[in-house]
Amino acid sequence: MSQAAYIEQNKDRFLQELFDLLRIPSISADSAFAGDVRKCAESVASHLRSAGADNVSIEETAGHPIVYGEKMINPDWPTVLIYGHYDVQPSAPDELWTTPAFEPTVRDGKIYARGAADDKGQFFMHVKAFETMMKTESLCCNVKFMIEGEEEVGSGNLGPFCVNNREKLKADVILISDTSMVANDVPSIDVGLRGLSYVEVEVTGPNRDLHSGVYGGAVANPINALCSMIASMHDDNRHITIPGFYNDVLETSAADREAMSHIPFDIEEYTKDLNVNDVYGEKGFSTIERTGIRPTLDVNGIWGGYTGEGSKTVLPSKAYAKISMRLVPNQSSEAITNLFKNHFESIAPPGIKVEVRPHHGGEPVLTPTDSIAYKAAAAAMKDTFGKDPIPTRGGGSIPIVALFEKELKTKVVLMGFGLDSDALHSPNEHYGIFNYFKGIETIPRFFHHFAELNKS
Ligand code: BES
Ligand code: MN
Ligand code: MN
Repeated sequence: MSQAAYIEQNKDRFLQELFDLLRIPSISADSAFAGDVRKCAESVASHLRSAGADNVSIEETAGHPIVYGEKMINPDWPTVLIYGHYDVQPSAPDELWTTPAFEPTVRDGKIYARGAADDKGQFFMHVKAFETMMKTESLCCNVKFMIEGEEEVGSGNLGPFCVNNREKLKADVILISDTSMVANDVPSIDVGLRGLSYVEVEVTGPNRDLHSGVYGGAVANPINALCSMIASMHDDNRHITIPGFYNDVLETSAADREAMSHIPFDIEEYTKDLNVNDVYGEKGFSTIERTGIRPTLDVNGIWGGYTGEGSKTVLPSKAYAKISMRLVPNQSSEAITNLFKNHFESIAPPGIKVEVRPHHGGEPVLTPTDSIAYKAAAAAMKDTFGKDPIPTRGGGSIPIVALFEKELKTKVVLMGFGLDSDALHSPNEHYGIFNYFKGIETIPRFFHHFAELNKS
């Protein structure tokens, strides 16, 4: 039977099995869901087994488990390692979901559920593509799967696992579907990801909350101070003012920027989708450049003082914020975190104490376009979309990717099938049924081309 016929015959089951996975609230950030995260790992393991994988195991870590499985058929064949993550972001705010986050529902040809696109719908395409190749006896590369449960919390335990299992994870390429394409009719392959520095700040004024009439105007208010400190970190051109912040930024060549300017981008559609009256960002760069090749600083959350019903006239003792910086090649997460810390401490006004606590981070990456693996991915997409994919830069981060290159010395291909408008991490996250089956159809083509190109 052909792969296409097998996929067609099993279409409904392929969808139902994804829905079963989406019903498990595998939220890695919240310890209340640790049991569900494990249940999800077990479900992934059992899907790998029934698809035909050998040596399937649930690898314990200091945190959530990693699911491993493999099919090693022929030592002369190249080996493809599939990486993905079965953990998801929290669903809150739940009241903004049209249908509940963990009750997958189809509307307008899209699957709505937390994790539909990021990353259950995407890594599961690989499981179903593998099953298809097994059942149609068309597998032509050895395969290894490593599906983790801590990507959304920084992959802190995956690095040590890789270092301790170099031989087991040996492969000719690591293939990942956890990024976006430009559009369903504009296939693309990410050739870069941004890194991340993430900090939490605590700003302290007086030793206790004060009456804002008795003390207001005479004692520094930590919320006022935090707001002006944050505001001062961008200038009028929306450049970041932390001294040295741009020192290591790898400038993109004029030719690469020229190529980026041809990536289809509809500003009307973009602003309409987000219901904003204009875009906003660093002067001198296009929207695609602002998310692809430029670093950023964003407040992710800010709190302090009185936020309950009615009013309370209080001059608070403390204010807090969570701040993330997206990094580009060749910035270093640790170096940028240190620059932030020194700068933030230096701009504290009189009467204010600050503490900066670093969270997890990740390094930016660039992946090669002149490799056999990239060419195989491009040829696979050309087969199924009928067009050559465009190389693009993803704005998000996958913290383990830089480590794959450093510790496993294995190159990565980011062949994602989602869209930036899939509402990743937001209410009403969704994934197109078109995209799910396009992935299942394209992945075996990657295996085919990768095997062929390795022969020549
Ligand atoms: N899959 C995303 C990253 C992504 C999305 C890359 C779209 C390119 C395009 C991943 O699951 C993610 O959300 N990563 C986090 C990093 C992590 C340390 C929380 C991110 O980018 O915020
Ligand atoms: Mn992801
Ligand atoms: Mn994510």
